[in-house]
Amino acid sequence: MTRKKIYVVGNWKMYKSAREATDYIEELLPKIEGCDEHVYLAVPFTSIASAAAFAKDTPLVIGAQNMNDAREGAFTGEIAGLMLKEAGASFVLLGHSERRHIFGENDDLIHRKLVRALQDDIQPILCVGETATEREAGKTEEVLERQITTALEGIPLEDAARIFLAYEPVWAIGTGKTATPALAQEAHAFCKSILVKLLGKTKTIPILYGGSVKGDNALPLTSEKDIHGLLVGGASLDPDHFATIIKSCKKHGKTE
Ligand code: PGA
Repeated sequence: MTRKKIYVVGNWKMYKSAREATDYIEELLPKIEGCDEHVYLAVPFTSIASAAAFAKDTPLVIGAQNMNDAREGAFTGEIAGLMLKEAGASFVLLGHSERRHIFGENDDLIHRKLVRALQDDIQPILCVGETATEREAGKTEEVLERQITTALEGIPLEDAARIFLAYEPVWAIGTGKTATPALAQEAHAFCKSILVKLLGKTKTIPILYGGSVKGDNALPLTSEKDIHGLLVGGASLDPDHFATIIKSCKKHGKTE
C-alpha cells in the first residue's frame, strides 16, 4: 500500500511580478523541503520565465493560467502554447471559471485550447464547475458532464491520460465558501464516473478540488477517496499559507 499522491496547484491569477515570483519561490522552497506532494504554480505570463529558471532542479513545476487555441496568428494580445513552453511552462490551466464567466469562454473554445495544449506538449489542467444557480436548479451533474465531455471530445486516450481535471464549484471560488468534503467527494465521484465512461477504467486522471482551500480544510478535503489534490487561489499567494496547505496534505495517512 502506498500513500495517495497529492497534487497541490497554486493559481496566482493576476498577482506577482517576475521579481515577486522569484522572491516567493525562494521563501517557499525551504518551507516545503522533504514534502513529497507534487507542487505546481500557475503564474502570470511575465513571471513564467524567471519562475521556471528559479525552480529548475527543484520539485516545483511552473505553468500558465491560459493560452490561445491557435498555433500562432494575428491575435493581438494573445499568447500561444509554444511561447509558454519556450518560456518554461510545463502546464496550463484551461477553462478556469474566471475565463468562462468573465471572459466568455465556452466549452467549444476550451476544447480547442485543450487540443492545442496537448499538441504543444503542455499538460492541461481542465477546470470545470457549476454556478450557484445551476446547483440550486439541480443541474450540477448535467453541467459537469457537458463541460467534461465537450472538452475531451475526440481526444485520443493516450493524450487524455495526460490531463488533470479540477472540480471548482463557481460559488466557492474566492468567496470563502468551501464545499464540504462530502459534497466535494460526491462531485468528484461523479466526475470520475464520466471519465470512466469516456476513457475506460485503465486511464486514471487526477481530480483536484478548488474553491476557498485553506490550511484548515486541505486535509479533510484530500482525505476523501476521489480527491487527488487541490487547486488553491488566494491562499497560494502567501508562501506561509501555501506551505501550510502542502504540509497538511502530508499528514494525510490515507493509502491507495
Ligand atoms: P480561491 O480560488 O482558492 O481563491 O477560491 C481558486 C481558484 O480560482 O482556482
